[in-house]
Amino acid sequence: MSKIATLEVNGQKHEFPILVGSENESAINIKTLRSVTGGVTTIDPGYKNTGSCESSITFLDGEKGILRYRGYSIEDLAEKADFLEVAYLLIFGELPTQEQLDKFHSDIREKSIVDDDVKKILDAFPKTAHPMGVLSSLTSALTAFNPSSVNVDSEEDMYNSVVKILGKFPVLVAWTMRKKHGLPLDYGDNSLGYVENVLKMMFKKPNEEYVQNQILVDALDKLLILHADHEQNCSTSTVRIVGSSHAGLFASLSAGISALWGPLHGGANQAVLEMLEAIKEDGGDTKKYMAKAKDKSDPFRLMGFGHRVYKNFDPRAKIIKKSADEVLGDLGIEDPILDIAKGLEKEALEDQYFVDRKLYPNVDFYSGIIYRAMGIPTDMFTVMFALGRLPGWIAQWREMRLRKEPIGRPRQLYIGETYRPFMTIKKR
Ligand code: ACO
Repeated sequence: MSKIATLEVNGQKHEFPILVGSENESAINIKTLRSVTGGVTTIDPGYKNTGSCESSITFLDGEKGILRYRGYSIEDLAEKADFLEVAYLLIFGELPTQEQLDKFHSDIREKSIVDDDVKKILDAFPKTAHPMGVLSSLTSALTAFNPSSVNVDSEEDMYNSVVKILGKFPVLVAWTMRKKHGLPLDYGDNSLGYVENVLKMMFKKPNEEYVQNQILVDALDKLLILHADHEQNCSTSTVRIVGSSHAGLFASLSAGISALWGPLHGGANQAVLEMLEAIKEDGGDTKKYMAKAKDKSDPFRLMGFGHRVYKNFDPRAKIIKKSADEVLGDLGIEDPILDIAKGLEKEALEDQYFVDRKLYPNVDFYSGIIYRAMGIPTDMFTVMFALGRLPGWIAQWREMRLRKEPIGRPRQLYIGETYRPFMTIKKR
């Protein structure tokens, strides 16, 4: 029997259907609210209670610490799949056969050339520019070099736009870093795997051969998988809402990159490492920073802690913490920052303030330590996050367009001045 929610507004009762998802989550469908109540709307700052869409891509249960892409657990995918398989799964809904995967990779390779003129745009940025700003601009610039709009009703057109951005984006990521470090720009090596190629494009020096390190390849592969999607977070919602106006895929992705940049979202991985560095410089006094985080008159927050949805633990953080130990061990690196992070985590998990608010380490708490061990500069951490999130953004954009969702356009409750007669400037 279908479930109903009853809402009484100004003495009148209205019924709304309750939708039930495949994991038994419930959502009150208030589509008709304004029409049946004569214009009453809802207010939900930060959309803490509001579902913006129905989606079949990612399921997460923040209480139980569950994260699944298309039904597959993040633990299984991080352990057993590679990034390109996961990208295919997210975007097209099923794990690829070997044949499908080979074709997918070969099509991505074929589309990986970025117009040489994009280098002129890159040249115009000062070396001090933050890589996320540069990446967002270059992604937007791709629109100018690939002007044909995507016919979303054509499977072929959709597929081509997907492989195009998956091919070109790693080149932009590598160029963003290389330009900042004064290294020549190139197009990578199409004989390599996707992740191997990313590493070579980023780190190849002009005067020596680049030798792949399997530890780094595996670590990056895992990090990218763990970041690949996270349902309706800030950047993904941005991609969907920009795309809902029928702006192109690259323009929507560029907006998503800007949303990811903020320190409350993807920018937290950079902020975490800077915080850990500051604690180290300050003599390693974690207690002092714990006190600052709890002091409501101090804007400082424990970066990498807390999550809008996870109120138990972030399953990605568990995997990354283990991976950080393994990668540093395998590379023979002893990083005092890792000890500070572990100390801080232990204190926070035992502290009443953090316990009461259900604040646990999130995906960003340990990822920066691995990126740093890989030789990736701190200001590139969020760019690496964007590289991982790319398939998720694409999958969500594609789903939104295929479902023919309406343009995203929230309502508001106006609390400003009511009508006032205009005053000429002399009378003000
Ligand atoms: N340090 C100290 N206190 C915190 C922290 C933190 N990291 N996070 C939340 N709190 C406190 C808040 O002050 C608030 O306390 P109060 O109830 O006494 O007012 C309470 O916990 C709830 O916090 P909100 O900000 O209301 O929670 P919200 O769901 O809006 O925010 C967020 C989630 C943005 C992730 C927040 O926890 C935060 O700022 N964390 C630090 C930044 C970070 O790590 N971001 C990465 C998130 S993961 C990602 O985007 C990939």
